[in-house]
Amino acid sequence: MIGLILVAAGSGQRLGADVPKALVRVAGDTLIGHCLQTAAQIPELTQIVVVAPPGIGPLPDVNVVAGGATRDASVRAGLDALDPATTAVLVHDAARPFAPAAVFERVIAALQAGAVAVVPALPVTDTIKRMHDGVVVESLDRAELVAVQTPQGFQVAQLRAAHDAQSSDVTDDAMLMEQLGVPVHVVEGSDHAFKITTPFDLAMARALQEAP
Ligand code: CTP
Ligand code: MG
Repeated sequence: MIGLILVAAGSGQRLGADVPKALVRVAGDTLIGHCLQTAAQIPELTQIVVVAPPGIGPLPDVNVVAGGATRDASVRAGLDALDPATTAVLVHDAARPFAPAAVFERVIAALQAGAVAVVPALPVTDTIKRMHDGVVVESLDRAELVAVQTPQGFQVAQLRAAHDAQSSDVTDDAMLMEQLGVPVHVVEGSDHAFKITTPFDLAMARALQEAP
């Protein structure tokens, strides 16, 4: 059994909208609504948990739970709501409303092939440098760099163990697995899985959806 935890409980500070980010509307639906439309196309999913912002009502066919103060606390709240028989789980950001079903399927395929942790990623196109106090310290070798997206897939037991062992701030679940030394497999992501973080990203999302 494969569950989906849709983390949607962030406030969206960088977006600065007057509602929580996951409730912002693009192309006729909220960010949560778009993610649920995609999830409905994935027959392997046996349970969907939405970790929701305040003010969301019940949703059909999904479990809605309250989030935590940080993304990882919200993921933990989602894990607590999973059916005990669920062996694998996808964790997806509601802030990536147009992540295609094909990406979900690639992550699921890797889990079914035995991976413990799977992330979708794309090569980076910018040159990435490390800086300190406004000065470049070094340029990183772009050939080795990828930009990681969601949905990320995990075997549930190991993801729970990784959250229990958490010792530092993380921005995704795969980082917790890396800290435990678990190999994190990479599958192909998608440009459409971009994250809506800033007002510019939201404008891009709206423009893309209106494009012919
Ligand atoms: N998230 C969550 N609970 C939190 C923080 C984040 O469920 N306490 C979710 C967000 O709803 C989002 C995803 O994690 O779908 C990725 O986080 P991010 O893009 O940073 O969203 P926000 O935290 O809402 O935005 P910001 O950091 O700008 O406030
Ligand atoms: Mg955030």
